[in-house]
Amino acid sequence: MRIFDKDNIRSVFAVHPFSEENILERLRRTRATLDGLTAADLAADEATELTDQNHVGGMRFVRELAEAVGLRRQHRVLDLGCGLGGSARIMAALYQCQVHGIDLSDKRCREADSLTNLVGLSHLVSFECDDFLTMEVPAGLYDILWGQGAWLQVPDKRDFVQRWSGCLAEGGRIAFEHACLARPAKEAPEEKPALEKALAELESSWQAQLISPQDWLDLFAAAGLTVVHLEDHTQIFVDYYTRLAELAQSTLAGRVPSAESEGWRRARDCAESGIISYLRLVAEKSA
Ligand SMILES: C[S@@+](CC[C@H](N)C(=O)[O-])C[C@H]1O[C@@H](n2cnc3c(N)ncnc32)[C@H](O)[C@@H]1O
Repeated sequence: MRIFDKDNIRSVFAVHPFSEENILERLRRTRATLDGLTAADLAADEATELTDQNHVGGMRFVRELAEAVGLRRQHRVLDLGCGLGGSARIMAALYQCQVHGIDLSDKRCREADSLTNLVGLSHLVSFECDDFLTMEVPAGLYDILWGQGAWLQVPDKRDFVQRWSGCLAEGGRIAFEHACLARPAKEAPEEKPALEKALAELESSWQAQLISPQDWLDLFAAAGLTVVHLEDHTQIFVDYYTRLAELAQSTLAGRVPSAESEGWRRARDCAESGIISYLRLVAEKSA
């Protein structure tokens, strides 16, 4: 499968287990009624993990990243690659801030709208179906640019960071959490071909290409952004994919496309072997 192919990316998310249908089915099973649902009800489920949070660390990581970036009620947030809008709704519910989400998948955008209506947050949260690689960047419109597990599917990350930093007002910040290559790509060790194969397969199933934390830091610096906060969360990444890989064999057996469950297993194996790390950072646009 060719990576960075938009039709492939759309088809991965067209059959993704984190969907409105699966979330509502789970809620109908566990609640007497869907009346009075909140963003948190969509975002957390210990038994199945079938939620609207398509990133490591679930709702907890949205809270922590929002705190790290200094989110406030008056901020305008752009969530680039927003998926089902899970992070956007949690931010709006916690801070009453305005969040706009953009995603390539029209299915996900429709479901994001529908779930947002369901929990009564449409006055704060909006969505747009577009391709963040080609669309025009709205200049200086946002205080926070949010990227959580959605920028790995970008071929030219330098150009991407440069272009999208243009959506920030002066002093605006990027809130960022992504899987990274734990070593520079050019240093692929020859003595571990099995792991390199697992990494190549993971990148293929995620339709993504990973780069190292230092590569990201260099890209932010080149775009005139100063990194003001940096944390490693690799152990949570391992725990998250260990849990998903277990669920795919047990509670969720038969409900997860094999390409997806293989991706979960490979992500766990690559992180346990030290090839992948998980980075949280906040970068600020200088005044
Ligand atoms: C792993 S999901 C993360 C979703 C969301 N950030 C979350 O944490 O729940 C990655 C998302 O990025 C979106 N995406 C990938 N390439 C894109 C592009 N070129 N333009 C817009 N969205 C894109 C996908 O459709 C997918 O919903």
